Amino acid sequence: MSPSTRSIILYSLLIMLLSSYNSNAQTTPPKPQSFIFPIKKDAKTNQYYTTIQIGSKATTLDVVIDLGGKFLYFYSGDYSNATSSYRPIPCGTRKCRTVVDTDGCVVFCNTSPGPAPGCTNNTCADYALNPFTGTQGYNGLGEDALRVRSTRGSRRYYTVNNFPFQYSDPVLKDELASSTSGVIGLGRSKISLPAQLSSAFKIRRKFGLCVPSSGGGNGNMIVGETTYYKISNKSLISTTTPLLRNHGSKYNNGRLGNLTVEYFIGVRSIKVGSKTLSLNKTMLSIDESNDGSGGTSIQTVRPYTTLQRPLYRALVKEFVKAARAKNITRVKSVAPFGACFDSKSVIVSSKTGPQVPTIDFVMQKKSVYWRFYGSNSMVRVASKDVICLAFVEGEINIAGPTTSIEVGGYQMENYLLEFDLASSKFGFSSSLLLHDTTCSKFLS
Ligand SMILES: *[C@@H]1O[C@H](CO)[C@@H](O)[C@H](O)[C@H]1NC(C)=O
Ligand SMILES: *[C@@H]1O[C@H](CO)[C@@H](O)[C@H](O)[C@H]1NC(C)=O
Ligand SMILES: *[C@@H]1O[C@H](CO)[C@@H](O)[C@H](O)[C@H]1NC(C)=O
Ligand SMILES: *[C@@H]1O[C@H](CO)[C@@H](O)[C@H](O)[C@H]1NC(C)=O
Ligand SMILES: *[C@@H]1O[C@H](CO)[C@@H](O)[C@H](O)[C@H]1NC(C)=O
Ligand SMILES: *[C@@H]1O[C@H](CO)[C@@H](O)[C@H](O)[C@H]1NC(C)=O
Repeated sequence: MSPSTRSIILYSLLIMLLSSYNSNAQTTPPKPQSFIFPIKKDAKTNQYYTTIQIGSKATTLDVVIDLGGKFLYFYSGDYSNATSSYRPIPCGTRKCRTVVDTDGCVVFCNTSPGPAPGCTNNTCADYALNPFTGTQGYNGLGEDALRVRSTRGSRRYYTVNNFPFQYSDPVLKDELASSTSGVIGLGRSKISLPAQLSSAFKIRRKFGLCVPSSGGGNGNMIVGETTYYKISNKSLISTTTPLLRNHGSKYNNGRLGNLTVEYFIGVRSIKVGSKTLSLNKTMLSIDESNDGSGGTSIQTVRPYTTLQRPLYRALVKEFVKAARAKNITRVKSVAPFGACFDSKSVIVSSKTGPQVPTIDFVMQKKSVYWRFYGSNSMVRVASKDVICLAFVEGEINIAGPTTSIEVGGYQMENYLLEFDLASSKFGFSSSLLLHDTTCSKFLS
């Protein structure tokens, strides 16, 4: 056999090997573009939560969604009794340095009969924050398999083998919706859900949220490419504004944690009907040179949009005035709301709820605004004939920097919101109710 014949034979063998390898490859799942998670609203707490599957037995857990949260934490006997694939992240490892900002380490943890999730020696550690109580828990971090479902085609399941999270103390479950075991963070950290999925599957650093209203069924969250948020081939995301970072990271906020992890947008003014409120512009921008106070963040862990006192008072004053001009009767306020009305004096339109003055959050240009109609600006309270302005005054006595406006869940319901970290853009649709749809009808 000549050397060249031999090399031809070897070459053919190689081709055969490669093609058999390729035919095997056909049975491995195609590269996913995005993943879908359901979102439900808890009627009692107004919290939004999703369902995850974690551990060697793919234990199903409900976890509250925290848009500005750093990572996943939970406590669940169902999980810890079932999993065999939990691995603590040891101190001093490269992995440890990627997952935590500080050099936190739990050197020693004593438990009988021996190591268990949340209690192992020499474990990389960080603080987890309960965004409702402000309680922090310091605990070791570990990893386990997270099962996720892709959006397109057959909606296959994929597994992230080493998904980092904290198995925390039960006290971090205080005030969480009763069906939930913890909190999942979507924030600007290396170990939030979007960050981990995009690095595990090399998908775009982007996610979409569509949160449902009470009794409105499931909304959803899509991590990755969200280009099919379309109706009749037209993208529903009609407006974009820069997604801002708050660099004031020297101090944490007692209730929100680290502001650098949160998502901010540049609200420049607020309009009620056609009237622009006169507001303190200093409060509307982020005070980067000092502690990161001011500005507008987006928070799924606030049931209603909060505004610091001077901004809140200006909004209530103008809204009450504009409502009076529509012959809407003001009644005694019901806490925590600052303006309530007799619902019998309000006309209810078919699509966007009670016909009250619109409220616009105006951004970088006059033409870029997020408009709230009655369905997102008015909420019915216990007394059946009373509806209230669904915006509340921000707490003043929290430790650390104060964010002037926190856009809350009620204002996000039935809007498509897109957080594109790759291009630092926040995109949003107009109210889906105008398109005769809702978050639960859309894509569910
Ligand atoms: C987990 O195991 C412990 C100890 O065996 C047991 O007491 C507990 O009830 C179990 N929890 C669940 C949710 O199965
Ligand atoms: C941690 O190390 C100590 C001392 O070696 C040991 O007694 C203890 O059981 C260990 N804890 C765990 C959770 O393994
Ligand atoms: C949808 O839009 C794309 C890109 O603009 C175009 O190529 C395609 O033909 C359109 N499809 C329909 C059904 O209109
Ligand atoms: C907030 O997070 C940033 C980035 O992860 C970090 O550099 C900073 O030290 C943190 N700030 C505090 C007060 O923990
Ligand atoms: C505007 O807000 C800033 C920051 O809260 C405050 O220091 C300043 O006194 C306010 N200005 C007026 C005119 O109220
Ligand atoms: C409000 O009521 C007054 C007196 O009943 C009436 O003249 C006016 O047209 C009403 N305005 C609106 C906007 O309905």
